[in-house]
Amino acid sequence: MAKLTVRDLDVAGKRVLMRVDYNVPMEEKDGRMVINDTTRIKETLPTLKLLTEKGARLILAAHLGRPDGKREPSMSLRPVAEKVGEMFGKPVKFVDETVGEKAEAAANSLQNGEILLLENVRFHAEEEDNDPVFAARLSRLADVYVNDAFGAAHRAHASTCGVARIIGSWGGPCAAGLLMERELKFLGDELETPARPFVVILGGAKVSDKIKVIDRLLEKADTVIIGGAMAYTFKLAHGQKTGKSLVEPEHIQTALDAEAKAQARGVKFLLPGDNVIAELQDTGKLNKKGKPVFAPVNPRVNTAADIPADCEGFDIGPASVAAFSDAIADAKTILWNGPMGMFEDARFAEGTFAVAKAVAGATANGAKSIIGGGDSVKAINKAKLGDQVTFMSTGGGASLEFLEGTPLPGVTCLDDK
Ligand code: 3PG
Repeated sequence: MAKLTVRDLDVAGKRVLMRVDYNVPMEEKDGRMVINDTTRIKETLPTLKLLTEKGARLILAAHLGRPDGKREPSMSLRPVAEKVGEMFGKPVKFVDETVGEKAEAAANSLQNGEILLLENVRFHAEEEDNDPVFAARLSRLADVYVNDAFGAAHRAHASTCGVARIIGSWGGPCAAGLLMERELKFLGDELETPARPFVVILGGAKVSDKIKVIDRLLEKADTVIIGGAMAYTFKLAHGQKTGKSLVEPEHIQTALDAEAKAQARGVKFLLPGDNVIAELQDTGKLNKKGKPVFAPVNPRVNTAADIPADCEGFDIGPASVAAFSDAIADAKTILWNGPMGMFEDARFAEGTFAVAKAVAGATANGAKSIIGGGDSVKAINKAKLGDQVTFMSTGGGASLEFLEGTPLPGVTCLDDK
């Protein structure tokens, strides 16, 4: 059922507690924490604009990192408040508390149209426990609840759902922000009744991470394309040798079941016919777990069914790129989740970038292309094609769970229209 959204709200003069996902990548530079990617901030700006124009007194709650319930200076949201203000073109106040007197005083002193960002909700262990007392303390800051944090909507935490239940219990509206609305539209409604052909491209490391998504999308797609390391488990299931490639022998049956389901439903199921492989050389270094680090050397295309015993597969090969690109070219709806190879290394990025190009090309020809978050978004941005697809999700785990059909606590707690 459609959810109430910020468009439906009358918020003039009201204190609106809005959960956002400002869990942005940061690094320390010259003693300051600097934000490396502002996409998640940018995507909330339309909601900030709408609510402040409607005269809301906006209180933003967010998490940053995983501080485990302790105050961790490197995970303070103070630099994020500055950045949001800079990007929004209007100062954003910051309070170094999340709940309690100081936070309440800061929220209560807001004028219509002003914005306040609270300190990291995860500095309190009660946040992740969805503790009702902590949720009640948060609820004292507001009259209305808005969730625009799609990326954190799979978490049943105090600020993502507990507080909504409390505000809702006294009749306060609980609505979706514009970003949340867009995510639900593209990852939900658009894929329920897709224009056909509907092509699903799935990649990433493990079959086990994507079992539920594969199973669900096999009921909707016309073509399913499999790339990334998860394709090697399918190869193993076909009795081929995979060398040192990442495989999950315990999921051979899962792979065979997916192919059987595709065949039974008349879904085209495309697996890579060739790969880019490399030998592994001991670097003499140890990783954080004390295990030796191997580096790929001597990369080359492998067209044989078997991968040599001393090699690992790192990307799809040129014949697979051609076959996948052909299938993508005809699509009217495309969903892409997971890269085709280890695109972070330029030697193994070609397959992923070629698929990105094919997706952008199909979009230019009228297809709707939906990029399901996480690494596929990073890859498409790295290929500089982010502005040539229809929609890129800001979620990682949340997108995957939503695509699996799992109800998200941060969505179910919102009012229906
Ligand atoms: C994310 O970055 O995927 C979200 O912000 C959720 O973060 P979490 O996995 O630490 O809950």
